[in-house]
Amino acid sequence: MTVSVAKQAAAERAVEYITDGMIVGLGSGSTSELAIEAIARRVREGLQIKAVASSKKSEALAREGGIPIIPFSQVESIDLNIDGADEVDAFFHLIKGGGGAHLREKVLAYNSRRFVVIVDDSKLVDQLGKFPLPVEIVPFAYELTVKNLAGLGCRPVIRKDKDDNYLTDNGNWIADCHFSVIANPEKLEQSLKQIPGVVETGLFSAMADFIVVGYGDGTVKEIVVKPE
Ligand code: 5RP
Repeated sequence: MTVSVAKQAAAERAVEYITDGMIVGLGSGSTSELAIEAIARRVREGLQIKAVASSKKSEALAREGGIPIIPFSQVESIDLNIDGADEVDAFFHLIKGGGGAHLREKVLAYNSRRFVVIVDDSKLVDQLGKFPLPVEIVPFAYELTVKNLAGLGCRPVIRKDKDDNYLTDNGNWIADCHFSVIANPEKLEQSLKQIPGVVETGLFSAMADFIVVGYGDGTVKEIVVKPE
């Protein structure tokens, strides 16, 4: 209950930063969905924006709420991208991908002028790694990819969706990599990206510009990671 209050508070505060004329990036996951609902309310009140979405689910929710979705061919850069996270460390590196959308989420974040992260306070950690790191991999020869991932010091587990392997919006699989502690996210990211078969990792190092943390009493803390 308090977590949902915290998520709502963070989502609503971030949405206040959206102004007329912006191209807005829509994240994925429960906190992002609260933001999408808040944006839809503002659109119904007259806010003039266009948006792109990081998952099929978020796009459907946005369209349902009346948020105009445009194709990426019409996007030079995203003005403000709002998305959740699974962990935020003391240096504001993130783990994302709990919802399996981190590849598309990273494309949006990379192409945004401002990447705003919305989390409840339970997501704040000293060091990343307690949350298993989602790594999107191609199904081809996955046994070898998983072996190579394990060679980096983790226990990779292929994500399941009932009896089948979980399928991302891109038709790939997710290996949830149990590291316990990630001492150097930037170095790990480089090592993971060198493994053939790895499409994208849920490590978002030094990407967040602004973080809104929501608390169970409905208050928020805003952290400027990179000034505008
Ligand atoms: C989805 C994500 C989400 O942003 C992350 O999992 C946080 O989700 P939630 O807001 O439901 O806690 O990265 O791929």
